[in-house]
Amino acid sequence: MNASAIYSGALALLALAGTSSAQIGNSYCAANSNSTGGPSVISATGSTDVALNDVTLACSALPLNAFGYFVTSQTQAFIPGPGGSSGNLCIGGNIGRYAGNIVSSGATGSVSLTVNVAALPAPTGNYAALPGDTVNFQFWHRDAVGGSVTSNFSPGLEITFDSAGPTFSQDVWPLLSQPNINAPECIICHGSFGGLNLGSTPASAYAALVNVASSSFNCQGSIYVVPGDFQNSLLYDKLASPTPSCGSQMPFGGTFSGDVNVIRDWIAAGANF
Ligand code: HEC
Repeated sequence: MNASAIYSGALALLALAGTSSAQIGNSYCAANSNSTGGPSVISATGSTDVALNDVTLACSALPLNAFGYFVTSQTQAFIPGPGGSSGNLCIGGNIGRYAGNIVSSGATGSVSLTVNVAALPAPTGNYAALPGDTVNFQFWHRDAVGGSVTSNFSPGLEITFDSAGPTFSQDVWPLLSQPNINAPECIICHGSFGGLNLGSTPASAYAALVNVASSSFNCQGSIYVVPGDFQNSLLYDKLASPTPSCGSQMPFGGTFSGDVNVIRDWIAAGANF
């Protein structure tokens, strides 16, 4: 492969990462053929970031007009022919059912379901997926083979969820406490004056910024960080804009040597610590 092919491949991957239609998860556990003559296929699109809550399951190559629903568990298993089914159950333990979301494969032999990552079904009630959790899904559906009614399963699909975007302690604090071009760290000036007192630790800086309104004479009332809304966050405005809504661009007398997009993405993802 030549360099330009590698380059355009990388660009295509970048473009994919920016859309919500990216494929996520891995298929596991073999499915038996259904009455179409082959096994069904399970997949998911969206994001593994729990904060974005963006997961859509899909199953295709199903018999036409077959009813079924997705099932889920954090435990993988391999149970051939459960309850007389023609398929294999690929999950065990605490199995949750999307029994309220029965879907038909219709004329295309395919189904999809947008799942709420913050409310996954389990026998004891709904629960929220946490970063680091691996959650498995499978589609269970009706089928008819040789005139007799049976059921079958898709392969399993495992999705490992991850953290809620950039965090203050890991991604933002290092940028505020680093030296900037022709200017010292933010905290040298903002440890004591300049309206904003960040203190000297990640915890003190976070507490001084998130959902806190400025009390300085020129920026009074503006909120430093509004979780989820970087456009109304004074911290972002003062760093990103050459002409901020009040006072001068920061760092005062220098150039920010960090990536201001990290600050933007951190705020957009909910400004977590
Ligand atoms: C050399 C000292 C100095 C440095 C370094 C500095 N600032 Fe400032 N900062 C000030 C002064 C003085 C003001 C008040 C005047 C103004 O708003 O322009 C201020 C104002 C601010 C405000 C508005 C505070 C308010 O309540 O009005 C924010 C937010 C801010 N700075 C963020 C930063 C960040 C983030 C950095 C590091 C990238 C930084 N500053 C680096 C001196 C500094």
